[in-house]
Amino acid sequence: MIKLYSYSPIINTGAVVKKIMPIDGKPLPFSLTEDNSFVYRMHEKCRVYGLGETVRGINKRGWIYKSWCTDEPWHTEDKRSLYGAHNFIIFDGEDTFGAFFDIPGRIAFDIGYTDSDTAVITPEKFNLDLYIITGDSLKDIVSQFRSLIGKSYIPPLWAFGYGQSRWGYVKEEDIRLCADKYQEANIPIDMLYLDIDYMDSFEDFTVNKERYPDLKGFAAEMKERGIRLIPIIDAAVKKLDGYSVYDEGHEKGYFCKDEDGEDFVVGVWPGKSVLPDFLDPGASRWFGAQYKALTDQGIEGFWNDMNEPALFYGEKALDNSFEELKTLEGSKHDAMSFFRTREIFIRLQNSDNDYKSFYHNTPDGRFSHYDVHNLYGYKMTQSAAEALKKLRPDEPSLLFSRASYIGAHRSGGIWTGDNHSWWSHILQSLQQMPGLNMCGFLYSGSDIGGFNADCTCELLIRWMSFAIFTPLMRDHAAAGTRSQEAFAFGDTEVFRHIITLRYRLIPYLYSSFIKAVENDEMYFRPLAFDYEDDEIAKSVEDQLMVGDSIMIAPVYIQNAEARHVYLPEAMRLIRMSSGDISTEELNEGWHYVSVPMGDVVFFAKSPIPLAKPAKNTTELNMDDVEYV
Ligand code: GLC
Repeated sequence: MIKLYSYSPIINTGAVVKKIMPIDGKPLPFSLTEDNSFVYRMHEKCRVYGLGETVRGINKRGWIYKSWCTDEPWHTEDKRSLYGAHNFIIFDGEDTFGAFFDIPGRIAFDIGYTDSDTAVITPEKFNLDLYIITGDSLKDIVSQFRSLIGKSYIPPLWAFGYGQSRWGYVKEEDIRLCADKYQEANIPIDMLYLDIDYMDSFEDFTVNKERYPDLKGFAAEMKERGIRLIPIIDAAVKKLDGYSVYDEGHEKGYFCKDEDGEDFVVGVWPGKSVLPDFLDPGASRWFGAQYKALTDQGIEGFWNDMNEPALFYGEKALDNSFEELKTLEGSKHDAMSFFRTREIFIRLQNSDNDYKSFYHNTPDGRFSHYDVHNLYGYKMTQSAAEALKKLRPDEPSLLFSRASYIGAHRSGGIWTGDNHSWWSHILQSLQQMPGLNMCGFLYSGSDIGGFNADCTCELLIRWMSFAIFTPLMRDHAAAGTRSQEAFAFGDTEVFRHIITLRYRLIPYLYSSFIKAVENDEMYFRPLAFDYEDDEIAKSVEDQLMVGDSIMIAPVYIQNAEARHVYLPEAMRLIRMSSGDISTEELNEGWHYVSVPMGDVVFFAKSPIPLAKPAKNTTELNMDDVEYV
């Protein structure tokens, strides 16, 4: 049962696709305080799920989260916001209910942070739709919510293959060499990603001719080898007279405007840039149409980035900072003035002041960006998805984004942004997946091996052993970090084994994914969702159910060669060692399971189909399976 309480929403976010009539009255089970916070007293045993992309555990209790799409390169536990704004939450205590706060601006979820027994949810501005969902079970509540927000995006089958990315492959030769090394080592691969260096001076929809003299020919050559090229598109457009995308968008008035009606100028990768107004349907269609420049070259998929939107600076704020700096010239340069100097520039990034200084032209009226901030990345994804349907009507395209809001899940997937090559980030990725799935984001995954910082061979092995189960499986790293491709650490045998196994599992993974989309289910579930009466299962934070039949329990601790695994019912342990598959019946309860480096271990409730090894999805025969 879904009830809608409507508190003067300023805009139709488009998150919800079903029409529900609002009701008057108290938004039970919350109480509403005078300062417009929704308060819920949590039972001692109450567990809390959802909120999509956040730091910390599967059970969200014990922290404060703020929905505010943020370019945040440090996913440490103290953070309150990451790239997505996913305002769906389930309380599972004395009463069990879900709540979706459909609001395009900032909202804080204090889930037992200020007072451990109280959840206080505070929208910064009180203009929202609140949906309260009750049902027979956690799964039922999720399904009802998912049917409210519409079917999740389905990528092409080949997007279930493995992909390699690196900010640092600059030219065609770098990409070709990477393909060679994968294929020489017999490691399956389906996608190679192009980061911003393929563009001309970071100008969207351009290709640097020196680096890629013939992208069309190169894309065809790669496709012949079973590999798709997936270029990045950034939200901001370089402000440069003579650059056709800028000229045209400027002339048509498609960029976000400042108070005086001038294009608002910010700094991102291309330097001075302007922001397409994705909330304006005309501008959105216009931007989407630009993807043609690349689909015409044979490109079949994209990743959309910097669409929180990330602002290194606002032009006016930068000018003011240089003025302020002058006042510090000749100062004593003691610690305080040094820190002030530094702060003058640090605070420029993603500042609320800038977000308050530009406007969107939407069908519901003109809004300050600040009030609708969380919709920006979502609307960029929608713009691309709608365009790609027209540009490539016969085949699905791959599309995923960094920033998102619920609603974007119908148009594309997401990756979880700039994580680190840290052991803790394997666990964080695992813990993010069910929350994302609850909010409709099924095609998702994190940068395998970690984006920032240097990766090690062991970290990559363990990370991949988990990520073979994530629908989006991509190794990606930042410029300047140590190489972390599957061939980068010398011995390729172990990576060939793990990635080959991913391909062998695709019949199971893909059919589980499609089933989850069609039935509005979760592909990844916490054990609590399948074993609602099992108190131990409910507290497990580092295992997940994948589809109907598999449970995973990855190793995410440096040098650990075994781990405790909880089985809520008897299952078979399936051990995939290089060249050998073995199974063992295990009873319900705790087990100490040895997982030597390179073994992939998972648990099965029923026979699991395995395809024959294939070097890419083109060669994968989905029907020729054996059961293990
Ligand atoms: C952002 C993205 C990252 C990309 C980089 C350069 O940090 O999150 O994935 O490599 O920009 O484009």
